[in-house]
Amino acid sequence: MKLETAFSMDTSSIKFGPGVIQEVGWDMEEQGATRVMVVTDPNLAESEPVSVVLESLQKSDIDTVLFDQTAVEPTDISFKEAIKFAEDGKFDGFVAVGGGSSMDTAKAANLYSTYPADFMTYVNPPIGEGKPIPGPLKPLVAVPTTAGTGSETTGVAIFDYMEMQAKTGIAHRALRPVKGIVDPNNTRSLPKMVAACTGLDQLTHALESLTALPYNRRPAPDHPKMRPAYQGSNPISHVWASQAIEMISQNLVRVIEDPSDDEARGEVLLAASYAGIGFGNGGLHLAHGMSYPVSGMVRDYLPEGYPPGHPLVPHGMAVVLNAPAVFRFTAPANPEIHLYAAKLMGVDVSDAKPEDAGEILAGAVIDLMRKVGMPNGLAAVGFSSDDVDKLVEGTLPQHRVTKLSPRPASPEDLKQLFLDSLILW
Ligand SMILES: [Fe+2]
Repeated sequence: MKLETAFSMDTSSIKFGPGVIQEVGWDMEEQGATRVMVVTDPNLAESEPVSVVLESLQKSDIDTVLFDQTAVEPTDISFKEAIKFAEDGKFDGFVAVGGGSSMDTAKAANLYSTYPADFMTYVNPPIGEGKPIPGPLKPLVAVPTTAGTGSETTGVAIFDYMEMQAKTGIAHRALRPVKGIVDPNNTRSLPKMVAACTGLDQLTHALESLTALPYNRRPAPDHPKMRPAYQGSNPISHVWASQAIEMISQNLVRVIEDPSDDEARGEVLLAASYAGIGFGNGGLHLAHGMSYPVSGMVRDYLPEGYPPGHPLVPHGMAVVLNAPAVFRFTAPANPEIHLYAAKLMGVDVSDAKPEDAGEILAGAVIDLMRKVGMPNGLAAVGFSSDDVDKLVEGTLPQHRVTKLSPRPASPEDLKQLFLDSLILW
């Protein structure tokens, strides 16, 4: 097998600062947009960020239409609604305001209204056909209002495929927004649990892309157009992921304890974009792959701070609950990088032995989880050992991410990882 020899760094342009959201009209003007679809969710439709965006676009004489029907956890059905809206509206630009769901929905609306195709055409294999996107899309500017998904920097759109009850997505460089407008004023009113879950999601993005299978141990693509966006860990993703781990570890507890701490909140939000550049190029692995069935199989867990009445294991929570077991498992593949990650999280590793690397990194993650009020393992959000076989079954189709695990995980390994994640401390 010929191995990969190249890697690339793709990222959106990022504009960061308090108040930058007011400039979005100019950002779209600069892209030549004259008629823009603004994508958000029903909870944000009346919010300040959305009204500031609409006002700014109108000031730039841009024809603006609001689509506020993004689903909190998007599905193929909710994507299709947005796509239909985009096709009918004949837009030449898109602005997404919200969390990952709004940004991902805008990416899908942009893609299928620009290159109409059967919905499964661009969806990741094995669920979809995974065809490469034929060319550039219309400009999409992303305005994140949570600190966590990094979706403003990535060419990935995630959704639930209802027929199979599986999470999958579309991944291609062309999906990437042209610009992310990262404004720390937008995250001031995040409930504590939302801030904790999104913060730990981005921490795990950074840890996974740092520890992922190196790009030069992946098979070489037959054609450059087939080179995946998630390339495996590489020298560039390493830089962004490392910096993100440090920034989050130093600031997340401060944000949870005092949401009015502008400096810490700004650092965490900026770190989300850094982590996004890291994993958008390097990729993710087991903690994310295992999180999808955890979210998908929720029964009655109601996290505080989220809209009431909807059982939900928030994405970041579902990811980080698996993370300690995952890093214990992957550490033997590269103990040095796992120790380095623990060091970035503030652990003194000067006397650490390579064989303890997994335990040390897992311990650092658990320590931070406890400080920000995460539940103690999958059991605390309603799972038991009886669920483990189904959780494994739901992880297996997540090839795109799990194949980047630095240590291959068999179904038996996954089973053990879920069992180890039931109770963490
Ligand atoms: Fe994530």
